[in-house]
Amino acid sequence: MTVIINGGNADTGKLISKTYDIPGDKSISHRAVMLGAIATGVTEATGFLTGDDCISTINCFRALGVEIEQSGDKLRVTGRGELLEPDRVLDVGNSGTTMRLMAGILAGQPFKSNLTGDESIQKRPMRRITEPLSLMGAKFSGDMAPLSIEGGRLKAINYTLPVASAQVKSAILLAGLYADGETLVKEPIPSRDHTEIMLRQMGARIEKKSDIISCAPSPGLKAINIEVPGDISSAAFIMGLGAIIPGARVKLRKIGVNPTRTGIIDVLRRMGADIRLSNECIKNGEAVADIEVKHSRLKATEISDGEIPTLIDEIPLIAAVALFAEGETVIRDAAELRVKETDRIQVVAEEMGKFFEKTPIVTTNDGMIIKGGLPAHGAKAASRGDHRIAMSLAVTALAANGETEISGCESADISFPGFFKLIPYSKCTF
Ligand code: S3P
Repeated sequence: MTVIINGGNADTGKLISKTYDIPGDKSISHRAVMLGAIATGVTEATGFLTGDDCISTINCFRALGVEIEQSGDKLRVTGRGELLEPDRVLDVGNSGTTMRLMAGILAGQPFKSNLTGDESIQKRPMRRITEPLSLMGAKFSGDMAPLSIEGGRLKAINYTLPVASAQVKSAILLAGLYADGETLVKEPIPSRDHTEIMLRQMGARIEKKSDIISCAPSPGLKAINIEVPGDISSAAFIMGLGAIIPGARVKLRKIGVNPTRTGIIDVLRRMGADIRLSNECIKNGEAVADIEVKHSRLKATEISDGEIPTLIDEIPLIAAVALFAEGETVIRDAAELRVKETDRIQVVAEEMGKFFEKTPIVTTNDGMIIKGGLPAHGAKAASRGDHRIAMSLAVTALAANGETEISGCESADISFPGFFKLIPYSKCTF
């Protein structure tokens, strides 16, 4: 799907100024299916994300014998505390979270499973999970998808994560549920902790002391009811528009604001954005709030180190915002971007560069330098099949002057179904 966006209109700010309900958090939705599947009883979730990635997780767990009903954003998972040997290859589609977290669960099962995914998944690093899970006793066919896993009884390990990754941490903790003792994971930089929160809600014995998370073998997880909050990683695109489009004032309802995910709020505030949180509460152990963003003049900032995992998925959007801020924004310590759905350092620089006469983004090994305030014009750009690139290009297009054509926009359905319907002055062609 190609989307044509007419950017730079005087009343865009007025047209986007409204209250938005954002689709459910992708990370929490995946975990609701997976943990519901291995718990005993019926896990019900509302606000479930119907994006393609979470549907891949549902299909994989159905193939593992779990009864899952899903109708719109309502999810019902009947867990029997055990999984069955699949009679087909488990296809994770584009979803790294499905592949890596499910591998942790499958490592503890007394059968062999085969996992595969799309072209992008087949290029993404899996050694980061096969190494610790092999140390625990699982057997893998290799280090890249397609991958076969022979699970069984596992040994507890004490493991220091070489990269800050919630997916790797979660895979080890989930395998730890089936281990013969307490599994310890040391996390040099904190990453999102939705797995720990949901496991605790389901009765697992999981604790965090300083930078070490411990997980005791917990065979009997109990089913729970879950209200999935709106995904801050999807809300970020509307927040970004609210911040850069003159006259805009956007309100987003019931967004997950777990502190391991709110780097985008800190960065936009540092750049001068006017952001207010209200109706703050805790649901299922997760912080939730309404977020309001009003347009203001933005200035450049620097982002590095421990802040990176709190906004890793928002960097393409931050790059788009930085293009319309005053000064040079510097992003460092973000080499992980090179192994996401695409090499997001390279792709952001190349695709966003098409909106300018002079090169605005210079890449580095682990980040980029973004020169803001150059005149932006409409362009012909491509998502390269990456959902967050498609949506970041839409934000850039709406702030640039003239007509932009973005190809590959169907990829937005991975995490934010309906995103392009929210963009004024846009039309879809197939
Ligand atoms: C996710 C963790 C992050 C993030 C991904 C979702 C999760 O990946 O980029 O979109 O749900 O655990 P890494 O753990 O590889 O950084």
